[in-house]
Amino acid sequence: MAMRTEYCGLVTEALTGQTVTLCGWVNRRRDHGGVIFIDLRDREGYVQVVCDPDRPEMFATAETIRNEFCLQIKGLVRARPEGTTNDSLTSGKIEVLCHELVVLNPSVTPPFQLDDDNLSETVRLTNRVLDLRRPYMQKNLMLRYKVSIQVRNYLDSQGFVDIETPMLGKSTPEGARDYLVPSRVHDGQFYALPQSPQLYKQMLMVAGYDRYYQITKCFRDEDLRADRQPEFTQIDCETSFLNEEEIRAIFEDMIVQVFKTQLDVELGAFPTMTYQEAAFRFGSDKPDLRVKLEFTELTEVMKDVDFKVFSTPATTKGGRVVALRVPGGAAISRGDIDHYTEFVKIYGAKGLAWIKVNEVAKGRDGLQSPIVKNLHDAAIAEILTRTGAQDGDLLFFGADKEKIVNDAIGALRLKIGHSEFGKSHGLFENRWAPLWVVDFPMFEYDDENDRWAAVHHPFTAPKDGHEELMVTDPGRCLAKAYDMVLNGWELGGGSVRIHRADVQSKVFDALKISPEDARAKFGYLLDALQYGAPPHGGLAFGLDRLITLMTGADSIRDVIAFPKTQRAQDLLTQAPSPVDEKQLRELHIRLRNPLPAE
Ligand code: AMO
Ligand code: AMP
Repeated sequence: MAMRTEYCGLVTEALTGQTVTLCGWVNRRRDHGGVIFIDLRDREGYVQVVCDPDRPEMFATAETIRNEFCLQIKGLVRARPEGTTNDSLTSGKIEVLCHELVVLNPSVTPPFQLDDDNLSETVRLTNRVLDLRRPYMQKNLMLRYKVSIQVRNYLDSQGFVDIETPMLGKSTPEGARDYLVPSRVHDGQFYALPQSPQLYKQMLMVAGYDRYYQITKCFRDEDLRADRQPEFTQIDCETSFLNEEEIRAIFEDMIVQVFKTQLDVELGAFPTMTYQEAAFRFGSDKPDLRVKLEFTELTEVMKDVDFKVFSTPATTKGGRVVALRVPGGAAISRGDIDHYTEFVKIYGAKGLAWIKVNEVAKGRDGLQSPIVKNLHDAAIAEILTRTGAQDGDLLFFGADKEKIVNDAIGALRLKIGHSEFGKSHGLFENRWAPLWVVDFPMFEYDDENDRWAAVHHPFTAPKDGHEELMVTDPGRCLAKAYDMVLNGWELGGGSVRIHRADVQSKVFDALKISPEDARAKFGYLLDALQYGAPPHGGLAFGLDRLITLMTGADSIRDVIAFPKTQRAQDLLTQAPSPVDEKQLRELHIRLRNPLPAE
């Protein structure tokens, strides 16, 4: 006899009158004057089980059961009495009248109620097994699986081949810190866990596989944020003989289909925006287009004002002055403005000038602000015209180095857009907002180390006609690099690669990587490029981020079965943890700061 005939959550009125055998966990037991109700749960949902006292042996067992006991029940499916149906459950029209009840395994009392929505993350991650039993987590991981399988099917249909690449390898070029694995066999030598399969997938193109994909783990030892994990999963892809537009079209179609199938959402054609436009209008390379606020450029206009806070950056190379017009923002309190002033300081801003626009028609007299006294009439008129200010608006200002202004006012734009104020004043549009950001710069200046650094990675090809700029004006050289952005998150990124050794050496020159260094680090790739490497390119999506957005989860950790905390710890298994002296000795390692003996 089968141990189980149906999933609890899938018993419907179609089975009315039939006997079923179910297995699952006790979500709740309710005693109703002589009758015991059990909500039995499995991964497909709940079913209501009714235990009547007219079967005394079964009823006696039912009286002993507690939450999270694992049960097998056999019973008759019948319609629920009038008025007791539950439309939110698949099984909400029926209940199962219990004939036999077997406790497959009792449970100790769980440390929390599974339906408690206010659990701390520490409690959840420490008790991850129980946390994973929660329908919320099960729903997230099920969607993750469904997206993965659809992505595989889609890529398969497009001729992509899944090829595995090593986890133990050599340092890769994504620019974060590596996780290292000491070699026992080779004293003093280390493998690096891959930050991505970047160089392997390029070599697979040289090897003629034409279209590659892999859903694989990547490892980056970087400071963690809400949308980052030290080990995360990429949908990693590479193609040969396709141009930038063709590559983007394949992967846009993939994401459109995934959203259509899994969420019944039509994303439509993705707009394309240059990096320059995104930075100019939103101060970000991953603009959240749901927020209906934009920068107003004021650098030119502020060159000749007496107010040094504005005129200094306006007249300094690399400086920028912008306004952020908040429609209806005059209702924002002084307290909140102070709050925002503190907030932008996180991004390096020195202050946050503002103007409340009470009555535009009155010019200077219609404004309330700590700074208008420092601005001449023409400057004020320009500010009002360019921002399109209306009565009742609030204007914020950022003036500093371009990066600080972009970061600070860009973050302020999001903060206001996502706030209660923003939502109630129509500054936030509740929709899916995908786009491609394209034409990234090849290089950005690394002030700390006083040299140019690759924005994407050093194997990214320059735009056609930009090859010489790598030598003459690296700051203006654009790359065939693109990011897919959704709701302000960088979902994926990639580029067309360099397939010619002469172009590659120019990039290394610009990055001040000597030929010897390049050889030592990436010699194997450079060698491969010499054997008729095909034009190729690709991209990688962050699967964890994709699922976080699709589920609306609060954190990337809610779509990963066994994630790490912000401090890169696994609270369930207690990793990382000390190891035996013997293990260290085998690995030829002596600790600089030995742990105190237990
Ligand atoms: P990139 O470094 O942009 O590109 O990574 C691709 C995508 O991976 C996701 N991602 C992360 N997700 C969670 N936690 C992290 N720490 C994390 N870091 C990155 C993002 C990102 O868009 N080899 C190139 C791709 C290519 O050029 O083909 C690469 O790794 O969603
Ligand atoms: P201060 O002249 O320092 O008193 O500043 C006058 C106003 O300008 C205050 O509202 C400050 O918050 C604001 N402010 C100061 N520095 C900056 C800056 N770099 N960008 C924007 N506003 C600033």
